[in-house]
Amino acid sequence: MCGVAGYIGGRAAYPLLVEALQRMEYRGYDSAGVAVIQKGRFALRKAPGRVEALSRAVGAGRDTAGTAGIAHTRWATHGAPTEANAHPHLDCSGRVAVIHNGIIENFAQIKKRLAKRHRFRSETDSEVIAHLLEDRWGDDLLAALASLRSTLKGQYAVVAAHAERPDTILMIRSGPPLLVGLGDGETFLASDLAALLPHTPRIVTLEDGDGGWITRTGCALVDRTGRPVRRAVQTIRWEAEKAEKGGHPHYMLKEILEQPETLLAAFTDRLSVQTGEASFSEPGVEQLLAGPIDRVVLAACGTAWHASLVARYWIEDFARLAASAELASELRYARPVLDRRTLVVAVSQSGETADTLACVRLARAKGARILAVVNVQGSTLSREADAAVWMRAGLEIGVAATKTYLAQLAALFLMALRLGRARRTLPPARARQLAREASALSGQVAEAFTLRPEIQRLARRFVRERCANFMFVGRGVNFPTALEGALKLKEITYRHAEGYGAGEMKHGPLALVDPHLGVIAVCMKGEDLYDKTLSNLEEIRTRGARLVVVTNASDFPAAPGDVVLGVKSRNPETSPFVATVPLQLLAYELAAALRCDIDKPRNLAKSVTVE
Ligand code: F6R
Repeated sequence: MCGVAGYIGGRAAYPLLVEALQRMEYRGYDSAGVAVIQKGRFALRKAPGRVEALSRAVGAGRDTAGTAGIAHTRWATHGAPTEANAHPHLDCSGRVAVIHNGIIENFAQIKKRLAKRHRFRSETDSEVIAHLLEDRWGDDLLAALASLRSTLKGQYAVVAAHAERPDTILMIRSGPPLLVGLGDGETFLASDLAALLPHTPRIVTLEDGDGGWITRTGCALVDRTGRPVRRAVQTIRWEAEKAEKGGHPHYMLKEILEQPETLLAAFTDRLSVQTGEASFSEPGVEQLLAGPIDRVVLAACGTAWHASLVARYWIEDFARLAASAELASELRYARPVLDRRTLVVAVSQSGETADTLACVRLARAKGARILAVVNVQGSTLSREADAAVWMRAGLEIGVAATKTYLAQLAALFLMALRLGRARRTLPPARARQLAREASALSGQVAEAFTLRPEIQRLARRFVRERCANFMFVGRGVNFPTALEGALKLKEITYRHAEGYGAGEMKHGPLALVDPHLGVIAVCMKGEDLYDKTLSNLEEIRTRGARLVVVTNASDFPAAPGDVVLGVKSRNPETSPFVATVPLQLLAYELAAALRCDIDKPRNLAKSVTVE
């Protein structure tokens, strides 16, 4: 949430900073701003709304010359998304400019203390940092960093520039990520790799608590105690094509269509169809899975929580281990029973979700072992866990998670298989059959794309009929599929959608059913609950609803008015992979028909680094 960027070098800073903001815009798009140092003062440009609005306001970069500067794209926490609240914020003298990602929890106290001598111009928590630095930014930069560290409470990635010191940009991290890109006679700084890799493969990741500064020739860092530290320089390959839409109108569609490839990447060299064995080459993963485990607790948010819910079924089924899938935002404040024999699996695309990280720290304090399932290499989660399984999904830019959901499912499926084989609870013949099914998934998902024209027609019908409420139902391993279908639809179409276990309908939600409710059911033949689900659907039909059914049954008993979306899936355990795809496409096509901003839904951002 919020993207910060900085640049010092020999080139014009303004276009580089705007490009960095564009590449990180999925982190927040309430406002954007840039401050470039120009002969002892700042050229400050800010605008509410998208980076595009900023570019339009500035025109062709007029009056923005300068080779050092900072820039910000905002997801508003404190203060409405106005120009005054947009970052960078200046101190009273106009010589210090500050950008911030996170929340300063004690900003009200700081502001009260500073208000006597400083003039505040915004309602943000972040502005206090500029005024704090106004008093502190002298020759001793370490003292300035120490004073920020001792004064600020909360989560912050702060970047600051001084108009009279164009050779240095200050930075400090407590929580949200900060990365430095080392170029040739130029240095970059950003919240995300996506903003750095087009310019340089040489990346330094600040550890939590680190502070320091960048200059044209590199960076200097101190740890949370103020001691100088060196952090490793990693060389990271940039897949330029992953950052483009590749001819598709939206990243979300491109990412949905990439899923067959995502599954191939997730299973390659980890799964043997001949033996049914799964294995991981990431350091420490095999040892963790082979260790003494009494219980598995999965912790995650949003879509990653839905993947964890599916994994719960797999772990209990294949490995006969007690498993639960917890919402990280709840678990962190509960008093969970965790100990050395609990394996905590933290699932996160970004690896930066504040609630998930808080669970990891809680679990560690209780002595539990922690396995991360994560997409972004080098993320905080991947570094704090005992071991990390990579999702291998590549860059995901659409705010709504799609290919990373299937990648999470794949990693968790392999993990459950591995646990089952290690504990001898999964017989070899069944393991081989599951492995065969998993290897067919890529093709099955690709086949599901042929449903797109039908789904487009359905979306147009929903628009024509002004359908404003949707209910997604499923059972067993496809109950989470229903939750995920509802989440996708609500986040990108702004239509009200609920996910329910089909067996729960008669405990309340059936009262909502009428001919105007859009009901989407996942009903897979082969599941123990297939016949039960058919009865649940009949109860819904009887109340006047027309159904949309995702099913693998060629003989599905459709009623007049039903729309049947047929998918190929031979196996109930792996059916969530395939059943999810028509639901993603439905959300996408409905959002497209409603002309919603699909890749950047309102009020949301990717990578939720604040609570
Ligand atoms: C929904 C979505 C979110 C994320 C959630 C967790 O489409 O993307 O619900 O799944 O914010 O994010 P990560 O996986 O980065 O921890």
